[in-house]
Amino acid sequence: MERSQPRVLVAYGTKYGATGEIADHIGDTLRQAGCTVDVTAAGEVGPDLSAYDALVIGGALYAGRWHRDARRLARRARARSHGRPVWLFSSGPLDDSAARRDIDPVPGVRRLVDRLDAREHVTFGGRLDENARGRMARMIVNSGRGGDFRDFDQITAWAEGIARELLALSDTARPG
Ligand SMILES: Cc1cc2nc3c(=O)[nH]c(=O)nc-3n(C[C@H](O)[C@H](O)[C@H](O)COP(=O)(O)O)c2cc1C
Repeated sequence: MERSQPRVLVAYGTKYGATGEIADHIGDTLRQAGCTVDVTAAGEVGPDLSAYDALVIGGALYAGRWHRDARRLARRARARSHGRPVWLFSSGPLDDSAARRDIDPVPGVRRLVDRLDAREHVTFGGRLDENARGRMARMIVNSGRGGDFRDFDQITAWAEGIARELLALSDTARPG
């Protein structure tokens, strides 16, 4: 019998691209596990979220807040989520702390976790390199505190957990 494929939106708010690459990786992992996936910049997500069985929303952290596009999308999703499962991730720390331990969401994201009744939130390490424009970014990179601290094995494992939950849910939901 054909298995019903959960349809998932993976959306991200990014300034320099690191969070988009995490989202792409999550999307690839979900596809390999049998989901149908759209990976989209949060600012470009169309008005209709109703086609999706689940949402994964991620935001880069800037000065203790999610990127604005991710915040806006999460607010929209809140109005329309109607019990759909939601997962959230943050991308930020420029050290190996996120690979070593769970890092709590920043307060604004904690509120989104609560309001969306998110299944889970995870903080992944970030990346900032010499291609980043912007005064603060240059200062960080020039002081030697840049680098790529994303752990793609950790990201794969997280996405595989989402796929397991979704496939179990879609099996349960299927009439039969
Ligand atoms: C000006 C500036 C402020 C930042 N503030 C934070 C922060 O508050 N918390 C954090 O964990 N990371 C912070 N970072 C690191 C970024 O979140 C990290 O580089 C992230 O991976 C960038 O994602 P993006 O390329 O998708 O925009 C900051 C980086 C810059 C340049």
